[in-house]
Amino acid sequence: MQLREGHAELLELPWDRPLVEWEQVCSRLVDLPRGISRHEVRFVAFASRVYAVKELAAPIAEREYDRLMQLEERRLPAVTPVGHAAVRHADGEQQGLLVTRFLDRAMPYRALFQSAGLARYRDRLLDAMAGLLVRLHVAGVYWGDCSLSNTLFRRDAGALGAYLVDAETADVHETLSAGQRTQDLLILEENVAGDLADLAAAAELPEEWLKDDAPERIRRRYDELWAEVSREESIAPGELWRIPERVRALNALGFSVGEIELQAVGDGSRLRLRTVVTDRDYHRHLLHDLTGLVAEEHQAELLMNEVHESKARLSRELDRSVPLSVASFRWLNEHWQPAQARLAAVVASGVEPAEAYCQVLEHKWFLSERAQQDVGLEAALTDYLTRFEEPR
Ligand SMILES: Nc1ncnc2c1ncn2[C@@H]1O[C@H](COP(=O)(O)OP(=O)(O)OP(=O)(O)O)[C@@H](O)[C@H]1O
Ligand SMILES: [Mg+2]
Repeated sequence: MQLREGHAELLELPWDRPLVEWEQVCSRLVDLPRGISRHEVRFVAFASRVYAVKELAAPIAEREYDRLMQLEERRLPAVTPVGHAAVRHADGEQQGLLVTRFLDRAMPYRALFQSAGLARYRDRLLDAMAGLLVRLHVAGVYWGDCSLSNTLFRRDAGALGAYLVDAETADVHETLSAGQRTQDLLILEENVAGDLADLAAAAELPEEWLKDDAPERIRRRYDELWAEVSREESIAPGELWRIPERVRALNALGFSVGEIELQAVGDGSRLRLRTVVTDRDYHRHLLHDLTGLVAEEHQAELLMNEVHESKARLSRELDRSVPLSVASFRWLNEHWQPAQARLAAVVASGVEPAEAYCQVLEHKWFLSERAQQDVGLEAALTDYLTRFEEPR
């Protein structure tokens, strides 16, 4: 048995009994919405936490546990693994168990449809599904069994978030080939069509769904999102202010930008802009590693964008590639510190240093967009401070 730290309470569960018998011997069992599955799944509740326990062959339980750990390392939306065990029942049969944290507030798609009326959620549900697959693929994860039944949905601030719940067939690679992505999409289309046919058979599906081509809609949305995250743009050297615009467009789609690549094309009159999208908290860690600064993810993202712009500028000035560590050191000395010195009054009024700096950046973009050229940090800072000092 392998259990992650902090879950010793699970030891009291009747591990040596088949999962279907737990009901008779375990008072922790609770009833919660559950999707259709081949394996037995039960939920157990403790004072502050609920877990999902799935019974399956021991080697497969271990494999799925490992895959879920890899997804967690990459900060992808999936259920959190807690432990797995290989057990031998009284009758000599061998089984494995996989324990995951119950995903709070999440619902299988059936429950979602029954509770809130299908039509309202249909498009958002399909979009969330496509978004999940794009995020997995960006991170090099091949799912292999993407379906509505293997996804949980959660309402998050008005949007619908999709989470991977079944990682049995998943595989993590450095990057995915176009062939692997296509294969995953084919599986998705087939599975979703099957999930919907099941719902229709159970008469839980309104007429309009049968006419609607849901699998195709997911694929279309997937293609749109994928094209957006992998799009390369060509900009003029004087248009660097367009970089944050592109980054904000990707952020709005739920992606973070881990890296910005700028490459001169042809005679150098154009630059090719390529963004590498990544996942949540990426920037916080990166910013902290490079500069020691602590910021929220969104702030860190804005600050890292600046560091990348500094890197691009330095590379052009020196006519060679400059390491990110060098660029971030220059950025700290030449941008962050002088700005913080001037922002002392703002910070003293209770605004966090990173937040104050980000407000200046936002102000700079606002002014740059209006002027259709980069107004520079200095000018933005001066204007920002004038406004700040104005009696309100
Ligand atoms: N951590 C969890 N939080 C919430 N619900 C969960 C969790 N784990 C499992 N479930 C529920 O149990 C159902 C079955 O889980 P899962 O898909 O992993 O089983 P499976 O038998 O491997 O499925 P398949 O038949 O696709 O192989 C899910 O659809 C989900 O509703
Ligand atoms: Mg499943």
